[in-house]
Amino acid sequence: MGFLMHAMKFLSLFLIIFFFFKPRLTCSSYPLSSSNVVFCPPDQSLALLRFKNTFSTNHSASSYCDDVSYPKTDYWNESVDCCLWDGVACDGDTGNVIELDLSCSWLQGVIHSNSSLFNLFHLRRLNLAYNDFVQSQVSPDFGRFSSLTHLNLSFSMLSGKLPFDLSHLSRLVSLDLTANEGLEFDTSVFKGLVKNLTQLTQLCLNSVNMSSVPPNLLMNISSSLTTLKLGFTGMLGNFPAGYVFRLPNLQYLELNANHLTGSLPESNWSTSLKTLQLRDCHFTGSLPMSIGNLTQITFIDIPSNNLSGEIPASISNLVQLEHLTLEDNTFQGQIPDAFDNLSKLNHIDLGRNKLTGKLPSSIFNLTQLLYIDFSSNQLEGPFPEYATQLSKLSRLHLSDNMLNGVIPPWLLSLPFLEYLFLRNNFLAGNISEIKTSSLLHIDLSNNNLSGPIPSSIFKLEKLTTLLLSSNSLSGVVEMDTPSKLKSLIMLGLEENLLEGRLPISPKTLAFFFASKNNFTGGVSSSICHLEQLRVLDLSHNSLAGKVPRCLGNFSNNLLELNIRMNSFQGTIPEELGTNLRSFKLNGNQFGGSLPRSLLNCSKLEVLDVGNNKLHDIFRNWLETLPELQVLVLQSNSFHGLVTSGSQANNLFPKLKIFDISRNNFSGPLPTGYFKNFKAMMDVNESKSGKLYIGGDFYNDSLELTIK
Ligand SMILES: *[C@@H]1O[C@H](CO)[C@@H](O)[C@H](O)[C@H]1NC(C)=O
Ligand SMILES: *[C@@H]1O[C@H](CO)[C@@H](O)[C@H](O)[C@H]1NC(C)=O
Ligand SMILES: *[C@@H]1O[C@H](CO)[C@@H](O)[C@H](O)[C@H]1NC(C)=O
Ligand SMILES: *[C@@H]1O[C@H](CO)[C@@H](O)[C@H](O)[C@H]1NC(C)=O
Ligand SMILES: *[C@@H]1O[C@H](CO)[C@@H](O)[C@H](O)[C@H]1NC(C)=O
Ligand SMILES: *[C@@H]1O[C@H](CO)[C@@H](O)[C@H](O)[C@H]1NC(C)=O
Ligand SMILES: *[C@@H]1O[C@H](CO)[C@@H](O)[C@H](O)[C@H]1NC(C)=O
Ligand SMILES: *[C@@H]1O[C@H](CO)[C@@H](O)[C@H](O)[C@H]1NC(C)=O
Ligand SMILES: *[C@@H]1O[C@H](CO)[C@@H](O)[C@H](O)[C@H]1NC(C)=O
Ligand SMILES: *[C@@H]1O[C@H](CO)[C@@H](O)[C@H](O)[C@H]1NC(C)=O
Ligand SMILES: *[C@@H]1O[C@H](CO)[C@@H](O)[C@H](O)[C@H]1NC(C)=O
Ligand SMILES: *[C@@H]1O[C@H](CO)[C@@H](O)[C@H](O)[C@H]1NC(C)=O
Repeated sequence: MGFLMHAMKFLSLFLIIFFFFKPRLTCSSYPLSSSNVVFCPPDQSLALLRFKNTFSTNHSASSYCDDVSYPKTDYWNESVDCCLWDGVACDGDTGNVIELDLSCSWLQGVIHSNSSLFNLFHLRRLNLAYNDFVQSQVSPDFGRFSSLTHLNLSFSMLSGKLPFDLSHLSRLVSLDLTANEGLEFDTSVFKGLVKNLTQLTQLCLNSVNMSSVPPNLLMNISSSLTTLKLGFTGMLGNFPAGYVFRLPNLQYLELNANHLTGSLPESNWSTSLKTLQLRDCHFTGSLPMSIGNLTQITFIDIPSNNLSGEIPASISNLVQLEHLTLEDNTFQGQIPDAFDNLSKLNHIDLGRNKLTGKLPSSIFNLTQLLYIDFSSNQLEGPFPEYATQLSKLSRLHLSDNMLNGVIPPWLLSLPFLEYLFLRNNFLAGNISEIKTSSLLHIDLSNNNLSGPIPSSIFKLEKLTTLLLSSNSLSGVVEMDTPSKLKSLIMLGLEENLLEGRLPISPKTLAFFFASKNNFTGGVSSSICHLEQLRVLDLSHNSLAGKVPRCLGNFSNNLLELNIRMNSFQGTIPEELGTNLRSFKLNGNQFGGSLPRSLLNCSKLEVLDVGNNKLHDIFRNWLETLPELQVLVLQSNSFHGLVTSGSQANNLFPKLKIFDISRNNFSGPLPTGYFKNFKAMMDVNESKSGKLYIGGDFYNDSLELTIK
């Protein structure tokens, strides 16, 4: 009796809280009546406890849960009426348990078909999402919940074939089986479900295996659907778009990553559509003009299909649109300059199509835009002169087009711009001073830009990547010392007209490309501070003098060193990094001998020291380098016999190019080398005269001096 009194007190307190503060439960899901207070039937309380006891609780069972998760059942108190337990709700008249929400409750264990869960047959809503049922099968007993309107088993590690009995749940309004990758629908089971579940409004089956379900079964799906999610289901074949897109109440449609064919309907799409995700399917045909009727739509995501034709100008009607992604199709014609009314648009991607004409100036007037990608099209003409509204833009991708004119100063002043990709266009003129500090990535390579690099670029503390290659930039590179570029990882300056001393770059630098300019003077030992350096290319400049000892090493991070075609002299650095893959010194004045530390470079693929003044004998330890593909000693003063140091069979196992010509070697080549130049034979058999190894083309100059 004491317990009952206590329970009554607790319950009335609850009722007060309920009526005054109206918690999240709605009246329909918790129909408490104020006239008679009823209690949880003992058999149902027992069933809940038994159910609870079949699981352990383990935080990692709910690790995919978005919300804060906690083990609800751990707080179930047997001294308290079960209708008050967390996640449990009862009918106000009968006391029957009608709702069980144990989503994100850390449950781990199998749901057997003898589970006491199936004794709770008054359940109307059952949510066991985000637990770990350790690949249990979905028991046919789920079909016994004849009152069930909502069943949510998403993200719960269920597997096996779904039972036919699911189609007995004819009152079901919402079924969510998302992300149980081991679950599988048979055709007959899905057919039964379509036939009997006529009240479904939400059907979420992302990642359930439906590879054997023909999409045309959807022809008969409940016409009440508001949500249909069938992404990553492996569905294959002609999609009944003429039916599904016209379901009168449809708001969310997702079919991502299925091999669905057919075209999009010309007209009469559901005007309630809010989200359309058809990413990575195989739809063909055009995007119809009638898309302009979808005035509720906020999200259109149809990249990586085979849509063609023009992008309809009727998009100007889609005033709620926030997201438009149509990249990777074959759209043609001009981008309609019809964005004036899309004031909520924040993400647009039309990249990798065949679009022509000018940049639509109305897009540069949208205050909410964060992301614009029109890259890899055939867009031409200049940027608009002003775009003052574009204040939130963070990413602009316009690479691989035919844009011309200058880079407008407004672009380099956008306060939140982080990524600027303009490579492979015809942009010309000077780069104006950068008036924003947010930039992380700048790629202006392959344009016609000229004049000096503005000094403000070298003050961007967050910049990680600066690529200015293949332009006509000139002058001396004025970097601050110490450098203000605190984050720079990659610097590309190659193929310009830059001159003066090589810029001293920040410590963070890992990739430095400066080839094909006219840098002069020596390389000072301050370059040794670049301890992260992995690739250094200073080839084709007018650099001279001795090289610092660190040059082949850089804390052992160095993978590639290319200083070909300069005027360096002295000896080759003795300390070479053991991770070195490519070492190119061709066309300098190096004297002395090959450093013995090469022997430790077991990853070396290219060793090119041709056209120097090296004076050495043939170092037959080279034959043991297991990855060596290119060995060029040509035009030096090597001398003596070429002898092998071994009788072994696997000498020079991967060598493709062996050029020792124009030296003073004498005698025959070791026959062991001929036997083992297997890789080289492959070259002879191939038809191409050029080989691309280690970032350089090599003509097949297999000039072996044999006497
Ligand atoms: C919790 O679950 C994880 C993942 O399934 C498992 O590796 C771990 O052993 C479990 N911990 C306990 C105490 O059962
Ligand atoms: C369970 O409820 C009883 C009665 O309200 C209470 O005395 C007891 O402290 C509770 N137990 C736990 C573990 O909360
Ligand atoms: C339920 O079935 C499982 C597996 O068949 C068995 O291990 C378990 O003991 C059964 N539980 C009860 C309460 O019968
Ligand atoms: C299923 O439950 C999860 C977790 O509570 C929730 O996020 C999701 O929206 C539910 N699905 C449906 C269709 O309501
Ligand atoms: C449809 O549901 C009823 C009861 O709700 C059931 O008797 C019948 O077998 C179901 N039909 C199918 C095809 O599942
Ligand atoms: C889906 O089910 C089919 C038929 O059982 C099977 O062959 C296929 O491997 C499954 N696909 C995945 C991704 O599990
Ligand atoms: C749809 O239902 C009708 C009537 O029940 C049936 O004749 C037709 O074959 C069904 N179509 C599909 C594709 O299942
Ligand atoms: C589109 O809807 C209109 C008006 O309801 C109707 O007359 C027309 O036949 C429909 N067209 C198609 C192809 O369903
Ligand atoms: C939709 O828009 C098109 C052209 O924009 C129009 O011809 C059509 O009548 C509209 N209505 C429907 C239901 O498609
Ligand atoms: C795209 O469609 C064209 C014809 O419309 C076809 O030739 C081409 O193979 C399709 N490409 C893909 C990737 O489906
Ligand atoms: C940009 O918006 C302003 C007013 O907000 C308007 O006057 C101007 O014409 C618009 N420019 C373009 C190119 O749409
Ligand atoms: C490189 O710079 C030097 C010294 O400034 C100059 O004499 C030479 O002409 C320049 N070479 C080229 C190809 O511009």
